[in-house]
Amino acid sequence: MTPTYLRLGVNIDHVATIRNARGGRHPDPVRAAHLAVEAGADGITAHLREDRRHISDDDIARLKAELTRPLNFEMAVTDEMLEIALRHVPHACCLVPEKRQELTTEGGLDVAAQSNSLPRAIEKLRASGVRISLFVDPDEKQVEASARAGADIVELHSGPYCDAALLNDSERTAVEIDRLIAAARTAANAGLEVHAGHGLTFNTVNTVAAIPQIVELNIGHFLIGEAIFGGLHATIQRMRAQMDSARAGALGSMSA
Ligand code: PXP
Repeated sequence: MTPTYLRLGVNIDHVATIRNARGGRHPDPVRAAHLAVEAGADGITAHLREDRRHISDDDIARLKAELTRPLNFEMAVTDEMLEIALRHVPHACCLVPEKRQELTTEGGLDVAAQSNSLPRAIEKLRASGVRISLFVDPDEKQVEASARAGADIVELHSGPYCDAALLNDSERTAVEIDRLIAAARTAANAGLEVHAGHGLTFNTVNTVAAIPQIVELNIGHFLIGEAIFGGLHATIQRMRAQMDSARAGALGSMSA
């Protein structure tokens, strides 16, 4: 297959984390979203958590009203979040598992073992014209279950690969990248659009960007943290450039 353009979705949650540390309005995640788009983001992701620890309801309303690029609304499969999603009708909803005590989303959705809440949420979102993305571990069973559940997209959890790479555990890194490659292939064969995200940095993005079935990466924490040192615009531009060159390299090696 021919690798396509790789989109960058910038997750702005942690701009809101910094704002919320002092209350008030600064720094404004919506301003960061506009800047991200100027710097080359193809879309914006925001996760409205049950405990509102970062993004707020008002942030979602403003993003929906102001954004010129698609909004990917990350949400747990709860009645409350479903009602909010149906009110705002974002471009896409990425359904994630959510635990109150976790620092970040720890694992993918267990689509294979999901209760009735998942099909009901998928049906309601679909009826409103929202694209449905399921965040899953790079596990072929979960990918196949996502296709059966009626998802449009799977977002493959790249966290285990990034964690292994960070620890310089080369054996584990190779295992985890192979899982991403196999899951991406299975997903594309099942007719799903393939995204990936979680934990990606300048050091880990190239390998994931080179997987040809993946058409979008969602990146947040690293970009916002690195922006402290390099500025948000320059940091996003550099990530965009690395993704483009890794994708072009994959294209070159496939046609050679
Ligand atoms: N994708 C999903 C489904 C996530 O939950 C997150 C974290 O909010 C991300 C991507 C982005 O991960 P990170 O902030 O580690 O780049």
